[in-house]
Amino acid sequence: MSNPLTAGMELGRKAPPVALVVFGASGDLTSRKLLPALAALSRRRQLTDAFAVVGVARSDMDDLAFRKLAAEAVPDADPEWEELVKGFRYVQGDYGHPDTFEALHAVLDEVDESRGTNGNRVFYLATVPEQFGVVAAALDKHGLARLAPGHFGRLVIEKPFGHDPQSAAALDATIHSAFDEDSIYRIDHYLGKETVQNVLALRFANAIFEPVWNRQYVDHIQVTVAESLGVGHRGGFYETAGALRDIVQNHVMQVLGITLMEPPATVDAQGIRDEKVKLLKAIEIMDEDQVVTSSVRGQYDAGWVEGEPVIGYRQEEGVAPDSTTDTYVAMRLAVDNWRWAGVPIFIRTGKRLPKRVTEVAMSFEKVPHLPFASALTRDLEANSLVVRIQPDEGVTVGFGAKVPGSEFRIRTVSMDFAYGAAFIEESPDAYERLLLDAMVGDPTLFIRSDEVEQSWKVVAPVLSAWEAGDVPVSRYEAGSWGPRQADRLIEAGGRRWRRP
Ligand SMILES: NC(=O)c1ccc[n+]([C@@H]2O[C@H](COP(=O)([O-])OP(=O)(O)OC[C@H]3O[C@@H](n4cnc5c(N)ncnc54)[C@H](OP(=O)(O)O)[C@@H]3O)[C@@H](O)[C@H]2O)c1
Repeated sequence: MSNPLTAGMELGRKAPPVALVVFGASGDLTSRKLLPALAALSRRRQLTDAFAVVGVARSDMDDLAFRKLAAEAVPDADPEWEELVKGFRYVQGDYGHPDTFEALHAVLDEVDESRGTNGNRVFYLATVPEQFGVVAAALDKHGLARLAPGHFGRLVIEKPFGHDPQSAAALDATIHSAFDEDSIYRIDHYLGKETVQNVLALRFANAIFEPVWNRQYVDHIQVTVAESLGVGHRGGFYETAGALRDIVQNHVMQVLGITLMEPPATVDAQGIRDEKVKLLKAIEIMDEDQVVTSSVRGQYDAGWVEGEPVIGYRQEEGVAPDSTTDTYVAMRLAVDNWRWAGVPIFIRTGKRLPKRVTEVAMSFEKVPHLPFASALTRDLEANSLVVRIQPDEGVTVGFGAKVPGSEFRIRTVSMDFAYGAAFIEESPDAYERLLLDAMVGDPTLFIRSDEVEQSWKVVAPVLSAWEAGDVPVSRYEAGSWGPRQADRLIEAGGRRWRRP
């Protein structure tokens, strides 16, 4: 198997002959992410002529209208994309109706003939989660899921994977009755981000970081996933989700997995996913009392973000005026293994925070003795290593340096690596990488069934204690860094949240 750190960048790495079937062809994700990602792959010559997209949705479109949609989704398209789009096909129909799949079957047979896609299919579920199981079962029923030897049929599934552990297990059972685990590609687009993959390079390609990546040197860890946006027009959807389900269950757990796992024996799909799942299993499952003391559930009120006045969550379109949905979560987690015992892991995520930023910050132990007058080290903080996942991708190391002058004053300074400055290559969008991997058949950056199950085990007790009303909803002003309760959570141990 190719090395996932370099795969996709390798010259000549190309998708094999394949038809990409997009369920949700008329949706937001398809226009905003999937079509631009395909155009970028085409620009990088990573698609062959034996490639086709077949869109499936209810909207009243024909092939021409879908091609127009595909062309318009990529404003700076080149002639090659325009040429490629000419082969795109559209099947109009409801996923609940067998005719849709009969028509799809016929179109796929035609495409195999006309484009040479050779009976290979990637089915991308870019549709509403209620339809994931419906589509998988229908593909199986219509003989589209399990293909003859020598051809592949893969299923790519968007988030969210289930609403709770029970629905996730039920969805897993449905898709497993149609596809083997090896053919199921569960997306967490965070894993497609260069900076998340760079954690592997940082840790396992350098001699200076991994030796201090443990309880002997790390005092605590902070993971921040902050958004400045509110729920926009997706209030109705958000009411059924909340930040814990939308961000913590998937993205935060995956980032923790990659950052805190043991070194894998091999950097490949099995090596990495085995280690991530071991790490997830070591995260302490909270009991009800721990949920009360170690979690904060917040919701934003009106305020100011980036200089603009914004309304509160309960005033957003599609949101109940007495909603208790979490738009902010902070938690203290513990990882019970040799490497991390006793190191608190603080996570926080929220909407309507002051800025959009995702980062993992390791804060190191203080030195055992500072041989300087204490007044001269007032501005010295503990050493830190921050992986900046977005926007401004890179790594920052914070350490103490002498302030120029006759006194021996010491202050924290930073050493910065910025992707934009160090490399001329642009980081591919996460969806480019993940789409190519699904077509090539490299599942390393996709989530395995046991990882989903374990992430739900961590989150489920928090959800049930919250739903039982054990933890009140704390209010925070839009544009602030979250509720006071979150500050108290971290300050109880003498630490404080970073201000990224
Ligand atoms: N949008 C994003 O930025 C984003 C980011 C990360 C993950 N995701 C995930 O991606 C998935 C799609 O999200 P989205 O925002 O693109 O949703 P969306 O804009 O609501 O699109 C849903 C698509 O599914 C189709 N659809 C729904 N029910 C159908 C049915 N019964 N039969 C046929 N077609 C049906 C719709 O077709 P018609 O409208 O033509 O009926 C539409 O094409 C979701 O799982 C979401 O969680 C989205």
